[in-house]
Amino acid sequence: MDNPFIYGEIVPAAAFVDRVAELNRLVGDLDAAQKVFLISPRRYGKSSLIRRALAIMSRRGALTVEATVSSFSSYVAFLEGYTRALVAAETRSERARTWLRDAIRSARAEVRDRPETTSLSALTVSFPTVRGERDISRLAQEVFALPARLAELRNRKVIVALDEFQAIGGFDGGSVEHAMRAAVQHQREVGYVFAGSEPSLMERMLGPKRPFYKAGPVIRLDKIPADEFAAFIDTRFKQSGITPEPRLGVSIVELAGNLPYDVQRLAHETWDELRAAGRRRATLDDLHRTLRRLLGEQQTMFEALWQRLTLAQRAVLRAVVLQDGRGLLSADARTRHRLGGPSTVQASLGALLRDDVINREPDRYVVVDSLLREWVARQTF
Ligand SMILES: Nc1ncnc2c1ncn2[C@@H]1O[C@H](COP(=O)(O)OP(=O)(O)OP(=O)(O)O)[C@@H](O)[C@H]1O
Ligand SMILES: [Mg+2]
Repeated sequence: MDNPFIYGEIVPAAAFVDRVAELNRLVGDLDAAQKVFLISPRRYGKSSLIRRALAIMSRRGALTVEATVSSFSSYVAFLEGYTRALVAAETRSERARTWLRDAIRSARAEVRDRPETTSLSALTVSFPTVRGERDISRLAQEVFALPARLAELRNRKVIVALDEFQAIGGFDGGSVEHAMRAAVQHQREVGYVFAGSEPSLMERMLGPKRPFYKAGPVIRLDKIPADEFAAFIDTRFKQSGITPEPRLGVSIVELAGNLPYDVQRLAHETWDELRAAGRRRATLDDLHRTLRRLLGEQQTMFEALWQRLTLAQRAVLRAVVLQDGRGLLSADARTRHRLGGPSTVQASLGALLRDDVINREPDRYVVVDSLLREWVARQTF
């Protein structure tokens, strides 16, 4: 029996909880060839949601193309990888090459099969002659026009998912955004989803002075309703032959701060230990034992992180944990946790936010990693 809980990768359908409304909306928008922005902090489940939406669109006959913008080390590398993903959507290799040669006129495109295999997913595309900024921006225009050409050629709808899209700003400042926006807005047979895991960067990208202002609908992914997630955990324990003590699911969701990744991690690790011990019941004690083990395993990493923080940041991080993220600027909290003046606290909060150590929710701050939160509560003073 396989562990029913999955973390650290895109969740398969069997471990996918809820997101019914979000999925319907995303699929509806893509079907209407909208340019959708999907925003949430890290590890909320954007990529998993996108994968499900693409699978549905593919069953409806669309060609789907995925690229993770942050995985490329330069603008040209991104253009190469994106082109490769588009070429791979055309399954007949010869046709794909001809098609690409016709579409890319400003540069020479080299298409190679990786020697070890002949499948199309093993293609590589490179633009060896592209060097200066002008070359790149001419090439970008042609590459960004490819999805519409593909839709026309195959007479199919095309859906493009660009994940970690906030990284696009790192390539070439505003010009990539301009070029992409100019290209996509007229592509009536192509739906796009631009997903980003740094909400502040993404929101800025959608601001009034930027190219993507009002380019399309925005979906802001929230946490999964805690009761549904808890019920899912209890059910999966039961179905796999381990009876959970009442409140096990609820406790896992709570300890994990209801962050989807952390919930699945804690459930997965608890299940593993019980299975290895041949147990048929899961208790809250088991859960806490697993939590202690995980904290022990991460000890070195948390210590290193703690060392990197200034004293003021350490104090504020502890206060976020102990105050449950609320009222940090009040005189009372500042005295109790020896935080100094409000501007010092603000500066530390800002630094912790930028480093993704904490996150801002509507009414409070939260420590992103729930294990770090527990570690700070137990091991720092
Ligand atoms: N709908 C869901 N149901 C259950 N678990 C989920 C769901 N969505 C995400 N998760 C859990 O969260 C983890 C991270 O999901 P995913 O990679 O899709 O998130 P992400 O927002 O793309 O994260 P990142 O910003 O790190 O790319 C998954 O491995 C899984 O454990
Ligand atoms: Mg992702």
